[in-house]
Amino acid sequence: FSAFLTDSFQRQHTYLRISLTEKCSLRCQYCMPEAGVPLTPSDRLLSTPELIRVAKLFVAEGVDKIRLTGGEPFLRKDLPQIVESLASLGIQQLGITTNGLVLKHKLPDLVTAGLTHINISLDTLVPVKFEFITRRRGWKQVMKGIEVALDSNLQSVKLNVVAMRGTNEDELVDFVKLTQHKKLDVRFIEYMPFDDNKWHSSRLLPYSEMLSIIMEQFPDTVRLSDEPNPTSKAYKVPGFAGQFGFITSMTEHFCGSCNRLRITADGNLKVCLFGASEVSLRDAMRSGATDEELLNVIGAAVGSKKKQHAGMEALAKMKNRPMILIGG
Ligand code: GTP
Ligand code: 5AD
Ligand code: SF4
Repeated sequence: FSAFLTDSFQRQHTYLRISLTEKCSLRCQYCMPEAGVPLTPSDRLLSTPELIRVAKLFVAEGVDKIRLTGGEPFLRKDLPQIVESLASLGIQQLGITTNGLVLKHKLPDLVTAGLTHINISLDTLVPVKFEFITRRRGWKQVMKGIEVALDSNLQSVKLNVVAMRGTNEDELVDFVKLTQHKKLDVRFIEYMPFDDNKWHSSRLLPYSEMLSIIMEQFPDTVRLSDEPNPTSKAYKVPGFAGQFGFITSMTEHFCGSCNRLRITADGNLKVCLFGASEVSLRDAMRSGATDEELLNVIGAAVGSKKKQHAGMEALAKMKNRPMILIGG
């Protein structure tokens, strides 16, 4: 495996997350402040040829899974062309993480272009709560988007639910019930701290607590075996079509098997979701770096990756970007 993508703890990075835009059609409280965030001028965002060049380089070094993120990736105008170019690199998975608002109109073209996986964010099954959390309307459209995704020729459809005390802990069981007839993977995500996102430990719903709420209603729930390099701990109610799981970044981190690297929309490589450590691939490319020179920049950043994140209390104080500018 590529030495450039192997860190000092022997973790091999085969999963690249690329943010395509800093813009979003929603204003989720856990992701950004109400006023939005200052946007990077468009000439300082990674252009499509730059993005494809970087992706090719990573794939040549062993990346076999790419996920497109944002902001909201469907706001990128040339998204179908980007998907087509990336799909032609011959990777095993090409996924997207989206707020699900425009799937009815825009998903079919992406599937044709080679998209294989989709993760849709939805934190509530109650329309008025959706408006409170996202500060925008659109619950019905997202529900429609989920149906469209399930009816598409995709390898998996996951639902991301950010669990927050006082907001949606009363809906965990209803989300699990959704998996009875739908082949969905519903993942409850522990609320994580980012700049300007109102995080407080009192609002974190720990994995153990979520699991016991669900087990009370579905006592025969079983744990499924982990995927390779899992972000989520998977469970299933026997007989249900779908499954559910927990992304336990805060109470049981999964850094030991981390295989993920991130490129921000402005072209920075981020070797961990947390912390401010970043290096600009855009600047390297624009100052004429060869592929080999780019790989050296990448290798140095990967080599400096920490063994694990700093822990909940430290993360809450640590400088980072707001989530909207990272992409999850
Ligand atoms: P799959 O490929 O389907 O497993 O997707 P994913 O879980 O890698 O990606 P997704 O974009 O759906 O993210 C779901 C949640 O997991 C988000 O809250 C992400 O911030 C979080 N997440 C994804 N990757 C990492 C990671 O490397 N570390 C941490 N701490 N959280 C992550
Ligand atoms: N904590 C946990 N998950 C978050 N996401 C966004 N912000 C947070 C946060 N503060 C999730 C979104 C999306 C994914 C990319 O990250 O719901 O599904
Ligand atoms: Fe990887 Fe950082 Fe996430 Fe840990 S917190 S799993 S090291 S990206």
